[in-house]
Amino acid sequence: MSGSQLWDDVDDYFISNLSPDDEALCAALRDSDAAGLPAIAVTAAQGKFLQLLAQVQGARHILEIGTLGGYSTIWLARALPEDGRLISLEYSAKHAEVAVRNIARAGLDRIAEVRVGPALESLPKLADENPAPFDLVFIDADKVNNPHYVEWAIRLTRAGSLIVLDNVVRGGRVADPGSTEPDVVGTRAAIELIAGHPRLTGTAIQTVGSKGYDGFALARVLG
Ligand code: SAH
Ligand code: DHB
Ligand code: MG
Repeated sequence: MSGSQLWDDVDDYFISNLSPDDEALCAALRDSDAAGLPAIAVTAAQGKFLQLLAQVQGARHILEIGTLGGYSTIWLARALPEDGRLISLEYSAKHAEVAVRNIARAGLDRIAEVRVGPALESLPKLADENPAPFDLVFIDADKVNNPHYVEWAIRLTRAGSLIVLDNVVRGGRVADPGSTEPDVVGTRAAIELIAGHPRLTGTAIQTVGSKGYDGFALARVLG
């Protein structure tokens, strides 16, 4: 899904000034591409946005659902202190293998860990370990499971934590109440869950850029 030339030009302008990819980020994208992974990582502008959110949160513990080649993982893990921890859940062993190499090259292997398997199997195992509450959860995997991921995120966070969902707009398809597309159905269910949940307050922001017309939902966990 590619946007207009103008959206690309504006993304290039902002990214080249504010969030250019350094060597490790460039290499992560290059190796992901070489390994045949789909080019669906967040943009550099979005990666920096996630990093700033983690910093504003004062995050020490981050959970990511959907690693791909670890590009967003690197942006997020760089927001953490030396003793911080990021756990990223990835279904595909091949994606995880590429991500682990990319994370190590970025010098983040002591901070960021990738766990392979369907996230709905990894999440209960993670909960059994009684981890410190996650300060930020970035949900970016199979959109059909978004409501389940939001429920798990609530269980694994604390009052004040932030939950971020990627790709909630999908070219505008989210606004179609009659859609039977699993991604749209899952995302609409997640938005309605955030809207009706007594422990969440949220919003969603539309974005354009080199990844087309899409958006993020943000939800803050209440006490
Ligand atoms: N966050 C990444 C992009 C993730 S793309 C970035 O911006 O750089 C979505 C990823 O979710 C893919 O790698 C896909 O294999 C993974 N995924 C799909 N279904 C999943 C599931 N059930 N559990 C965990 N990961 C899943
Ligand atoms: C897709 C998934 C993503 O996480 C994303 O950011 C863009 C596209 C996809 O499955 O097409
Ligand atoms: Mg995404």
